[in-house]
Amino acid sequence: MRRVAVIGPGRVGTALGMALDRAGYRIVAVAGRSRQGSDDFVRRLPSARSMAAADAARGAELVLVCVGDDALVEVVRRVAAADAVAEGSRWMHTSGGYGTDVLEPVRLAGAAVAACHPAQTFPDPDTGLAALPGTSWAVTADEGDLGWARVLVTDLRGSPVTVDAGSRTLYHAGLTVGSNATATVVTLARDLLLGAGVTDPSQFLGPLVTTSASNAASRGAAALTGPVRRGDAGTVARQLDELRTVLPEAVEAYLALSRLALRHARRAGLGDEAAAAVAAVLDN
Ligand SMILES: NC(=O)c1ccc[n+]([C@@H]2O[C@H](COP(=O)([O-])OP(=O)(O)OC[C@H]3O[C@@H](n4cnc5c(N)ncnc54)[C@H](OP(=O)(O)O)[C@@H]3O)[C@@H](O)[C@H]2O)c1
Repeated sequence: MRRVAVIGPGRVGTALGMALDRAGYRIVAVAGRSRQGSDDFVRRLPSARSMAAADAARGAELVLVCVGDDALVEVVRRVAAADAVAEGSRWMHTSGGYGTDVLEPVRLAGAAVAACHPAQTFPDPDTGLAALPGTSWAVTADEGDLGWARVLVTDLRGSPVTVDAGSRTLYHAGLTVGSNATATVVTLARDLLLGAGVTDPSQFLGPLVTTSASNAASRGAAALTGPVRRGDAGTVARQLDELRTVLPEAVEAYLALSRLALRHARRAGLGDEAAAAVAAVLDN
């Protein structure tokens, strides 16, 4: 399985193409939408020829579909309808939310399929490529296809973790909250520090956020600290008063996050009386 086609030469497709090339696979074809994406890909991987998706698929033993989520269904349907699926070829896509159902048209045409999502951020191909070693991948496939899918991820220097097809949306929601919601909250924290006259918020937030996030990821509610966890209702009340005056648009988020923190704090052992005092401030 060494002749590879990449459909979707964007951030992920280009990074994975380069990683497979380094691992000894031969990248023979690329299919993009705009000319520029494919040209950039070929500049990095001169063994690849730019062509239409159906032609790329026809000559490949392994097809990586790395188009955006919204294009995935249509691209797969179109290639299958063109009768371009090589018998016994292997197909994988990199979308987090979809399982293998979206690859059903190519499976029916004789391909083996897997959904392999790298739990990593790819702001551009080079940064993504550098981050691949050690990345965890969610792998969803039928029992008979898990083996090759896991080997593929290992060849990409990743760590494969099997996720059931029925759990894929919940898995993806977990990553969305963990990554995007965390970034949203840190952006709010940054605004608060700028408001307090701190010119370089990252000096404070960088180490603090990294440690808090890492502790929470491994230990859950037990890692929670701060005024809500301690039951310091007076501190929570003062912070709320200040926010209402200085940054009223932050109050709703502060309340929602504090209520969630209070639930976690109870799970972690905060007593009823202290919890009730904090709840009273939040409900005031
Ligand atoms: N970026 C990340 O951090 C990340 C991480 C994990 C997983 N993923 C997943 O990986 C997939 C790709 O994401 P990405 O960030 O690499 O997206 P991207 O940078 O926007 O790249 C998508 C590529 O697909 C091409 N494309 C779109 N429609 C097409 C079509 N009909 N036929 C052929 N090519 C088409 C685009 O071409 P044009 O540029 O010409 O439109 C572009 O080259 C998504 O499913 C995403 O959820 C992304």
